[in-house]
Amino acid sequence: IQWFPGHMTKARRQIEDKLKLIDIVIELLDARVPLSSRNPMVDEILKGKPRMVLLNKYDLADSQLTAEWVRYFAEQGLKALPIDAATGTNVKEILPRAKELWAHKIEAQLRKGVNPRAVRALIVGIPNVGKSTLINQLAGKKIAATGDRPGVTKGQQWIKVGTEMDLLDTPGILWPKFEDQMVGLRLAATGAIKEELLHMDEIAFFVIKYMVKHYGAALQERFGIAELPEDLDDPNEVVKVMEAVGRKRGAIVSGGKVDLDKASLIIIRDLRAGKLGRITLEVPGEL
Ligand code: GTP
Repeated sequence: IQWFPGHMTKARRQIEDKLKLIDIVIELLDARVPLSSRNPMVDEILKGKPRMVLLNKYDLADSQLTAEWVRYFAEQGLKALPIDAATGTNVKEILPRAKELWAHKIEAQLRKGVNPRAVRALIVGIPNVGKSTLINQLAGKKIAATGDRPGVTKGQQWIKVGTEMDLLDTPGILWPKFEDQMVGLRLAATGAIKEELLHMDEIAFFVIKYMVKHYGAALQERFGIAELPEDLDDPNEVVKVMEAVGRKRGAIVSGGKVDLDKASLIIIRDLRAGKLGRITLEVPGEL
């Protein structure tokens, strides 16, 4: 999806329509980029609905930093739960947390002698964050369309999550913040933005610089790099890393020169697939 102001207004209206139907919101973020994958207007759009935060794809994220992010959200009064929607890790924790968010209403119903109904939930998040995967995981079967490209979620029914939670079968799609170039790079690196729209070499540059700073040993090991650049502000030094990657992986054009476009793609694909290790691209307090 390419987001224009018109699309944002429409997406917002669609979420507002869904909000009328539900009790609580499940805000899905990418554990590797918790802030960059967060909609800039989420508080305003959700208008005080009780909410939990899920840090998805935590299997790909740095576990130490994920713990730091959980603390970060706790300081804001939000309980964040790291999950892996694809395999279902921690997904069982969602229902108890949903009930906790809605406990005051359940208790009020019980006091009135009314049988409490199931808590109604909506999943919201930016494209490709794993909304459909989580819906399927919670439903215990394949319902929503999933795919590793942004924009696959389509058109409303309730899915029963046991007897205690009803989930809207279509998630609320939010847009990321684009104004900040660094946010764009982080989202591109994790795959939240369509590849065709981006300059691979720019993303690879960003990834190399970040890796050298935070995960140098992993980069060296994966690509057999003897020495890492000392001056990351020198583009030539970064290009040297790209060349090492290209040589290691056979991205060579005629004349023996390294194909830098291919080398860029190799780095980005390896990062997204978790082959460079578990990596988080945002550090709380460092932004
Ligand atoms: P849109 O339809 O574009 O809004 O995307 P979505 O938010 O519904 O994402 P979707 O469920 O289609 O997942 C996007 C990709 O991420 C798929 O390839 C999933 O398999 C993958 N994915 C989802 N959750 C996880 C996870 O926890 N870990 C990993 N490694 N991959 C995941």
